[in-house]
Amino acid sequence: MKEGRFAEVAQEYNKLKLAIPYYDKIQKLTGNLLISNLKSSFPENDYFLILEIGFGTGETTRQILAAADKIGVKIRIVAIDNEIEMLKVATKKIKDRRASFILAGANEFLTDQNQKYHGIVSGFMIHNLIKDQRIEIVNKVLEVLEPNGVFVNADKIAQNDPIAYWKDLVEQMKKIDDLWNQDQGNRKYWDYWRQHYVQDSGSNKMTESELQSLLQPKCQKVEFCERHGMDEICVAVKK
Ligand SMILES: C[S@@+](CC[C@H](N)C(=O)[O-])C[C@H]1O[C@@H](n2cnc3c(N)ncnc32)[C@H](O)[C@@H]1O
Repeated sequence: MKEGRFAEVAQEYNKLKLAIPYYDKIQKLTGNLLISNLKSSFPENDYFLILEIGFGTGETTRQILAAADKIGVKIRIVAIDNEIEMLKVATKKIKDRRASFILAGANEFLTDQNQKYHGIVSGFMIHNLIKDQRIEIVNKVLEVLEPNGVFVNADKIAQNDPIAYWKDLVEQMKKIDDLWNQDQGNRKYWDYWRQHYVQDSGSNKMTESELQSLLQPKCQKVEFCERHGMDEICVAVKK
């Protein structure tokens, strides 16, 4: 992946919700799915250690904390991101002693881990990697998960059917083009997202079948839930 892919949009990342109107819904569901699956995987536990990969502006983190409060469980989140601009945004936004934000690349961080986690979560990060890196990251995620541990990946996940995928892509690009036309003062921002979607749509795109084949051999459950356009949540429980 191109280094610093998010640096120039970190401060305005929230505007992306205009092009992904279901963004808040997916984030909320990601938090709820993580905590509810942790409760069923570890019925004896009242505390869960969670690793978040690619915290961005901290929106996924915020929803995990909210879900833990709602369900009434104790958690600690170790959240990593390799972008300094995102660290600035997230630490300003989330002031909660249960969450620690660390500037670190996923591959290096996972490679150095002695710690095992009950849950690992990632929002819209893994698709940014090139395929070989994705394979490495997903394998390392499975290594640092506890047995019965839960992995939730809310991401840009291409449907296996190429026609359905192109339909999703055309609709998404149309939304961005409409915003480019309406939001004249911010055309550079919308240009950035246009290019981002074009780069992600080539042969490197992450598909449901790729994730399924990476996760299935080491997991007792792999489920794809709540697709909205190009985005979907994958929930896996390690054997
Ligand atoms: C699209 S943002 C999503 C952020 C947040 N999870 C959300 O759903 O809104 C992806 C984040 O992953 C981070 N990221 C990308 N590659 C990374 C890597 N190799 N290691 C750690 N973080 C990475 C980026 O800096 C960015 O903040």
